[in-house]
Amino acid sequence: MPTAEQLRIQSYEMWETIAPSWERRQAFVEENAGPVRRWMLDELAPRPGDTILELAAGAGHTGFEATRLLGADGRLITTDFAPAMLEAARRRGRELGIENVEYRVIDAERMELGADSVDGVLCRYGYMLMPDPAAALSETRRVLRAGGRLVMAVFGPPDRNPFFAIIAMALVQRGHMPPPAPDGPGLFSMASEERTTRLLEGAGFTAVRTEMVPAPRFPFRDVEEYMSLIGDTAGPIAVALRRVPGDEREQIMAQLEAAFAPFATDGGYELPGLTLAAVAS
Ligand SMILES: C[S@@+](CC[C@H](N)C(=O)[O-])C[C@H]1O[C@@H](n2cnc3c(N)ncnc32)[C@H](O)[C@@H]1O
Repeated sequence: MPTAEQLRIQSYEMWETIAPSWERRQAFVEENAGPVRRWMLDELAPRPGDTILELAAGAGHTGFEATRLLGADGRLITTDFAPAMLEAARRRGRELGIENVEYRVIDAERMELGADSVDGVLCRYGYMLMPDPAAALSETRRVLRAGGRLVMAVFGPPDRNPFFAIIAMALVQRGHMPPPAPDGPGLFSMASEERTTRLLEGAGFTAVRTEMVPAPRFPFRDVEEYMSLIGDTAGPIAVALRRVPGDEREQIMAQLEAAFAPFATDGGYELPGLTLAAVAS
């Protein structure tokens, strides 16, 4: 069993590797995760003058949208532990002409930020990937001012997220990915409402509400396009996939084609998704 520190280093290296393709696929990610982004911003309800922290921000969209409501006196702190991801966010922020934003490399499990220093925190699809989400949530509680709100999202159960689950299962069965450790970091590690609520309460949040948001939905033309999308964005799955030899890749694609049949549409396929979202203070 790798230690938490080994898992952290593996994850860091993986996101540094994925960053260029993740950046290329930003429009796809944002379009499909749009309902989650909107849910999070509605629940955060930032006010002019607030300081909002986004953790594990990737290319930064969720926080960027909040800046519109922060006014000239408000501020967004966009953070990620992978410098290459943060650079992608910086480029996107510049393109969007966003000015009231500061970019910082921050590991959410050990934040170099003062206590009671922010009014709200956003974290979409981040905590589930951290070896010690309890530490990250305690850190989040520490930096939030009294009355401040955390709004977060993680993937719901695998059977409701076939876009990731079907291929992950195939890769585990074929020995290209280790089976997920119970409570270990992974795409579905916080899918249970009970576990996520327990982690939030354990970190000192007293008012916790969760909701299942039916998103993201993933449309694609064919298995070829699916492999390219997943290979560009799906963190641990993408990295495992890069190591699969060509002939086995063909076998996996045939397996996927059969598994995707129930999701066929007129022009290709559309796979549903379910996100567990939570607001806590
Ligand atoms: C699935 S991506 C999500 C990116 C973005 N939040 C979104 O929803 O589009 C996960 C991100 O978490 C970051 N990450 C993983 N572990 C982290 C940690 N301990 N501290 C900060 N960022 C982390 C990765 O670098 C990556 O950018």
